[in-house]
Amino acid sequence: SDEGIARPPEGVGLDGLRSAAAGCRACELWQDTTQTVFGEGPGTARVVLVGEQPGDQEDRRGEPFVGPAGRLLDKALDEAGIDRGTAYVTNAVKHFGHVTKGKRRIHQTPRPEHLRACRPWLEAEFAVLQPEVVVALGATAAKSLISPSFRITREHGQLLPWTPPGAPAPTEDDDEDAPHQTWILATTHPSAILRTPDDGRAAAYDALVADLRVVAATLA
Ligand code: URA
Repeated sequence: SDEGIARPPEGVGLDGLRSAAAGCRACELWQDTTQTVFGEGPGTARVVLVGEQPGDQEDRRGEPFVGPAGRLLDKALDEAGIDRGTAYVTNAVKHFGHVTKGKRRIHQTPRPEHLRACRPWLEAEFAVLQPEVVVALGATAAKSLISPSFRITREHGQLLPWTPPGAPAPTEDDDEDAPHQTWILATTHPSAILRTPDDGRAAAYDALVADLRVVAATLA
């Protein structure tokens, strides 16, 4: 059965993937949501930013990072010299996982089975885009894409050579002197900065901008 893992169609491009993902039922998260929130940005993007999952406003609008975290991200990207319009922005999980408390919908960190079920969509996005740099926003994306033991606090801002999941691993025949095709860098999730107490928030924000400047320099 197809339960439990998404099966993206092949050779359909980003728009075809988006249409197919709209009907994804690979995990139960779709049930209590408005829509699938697929990635957004030009097919020519050289940088792909990967968050955790859409929030309340993203679920309503159908676009990633358009709520409070998105506004902070936009500001940080701008300060770092990266035009969001040239980047592709997506999430590790594409439905808003939450619990409802009264009128409020409270975000819930996706469980491993949600990440696993949704993973083929992210791999399909990477396969179409073939990005030069991937930015993991926060621990969920970093642990999923780099390593389960990855720690943002210790390792944020480091540019690491990386093979996109689903792509063939480099072989011994590959030219050792050839530049790496893809890099990954993890940084603080914008929502974590919004939750940082007043006395530490400016420093946390500055660290995000500094990490994004590393990305900007890599793209230059
Ligand atoms: N947080 C995320 O991780 N992704 C979004 O799209 C919005 C908030």
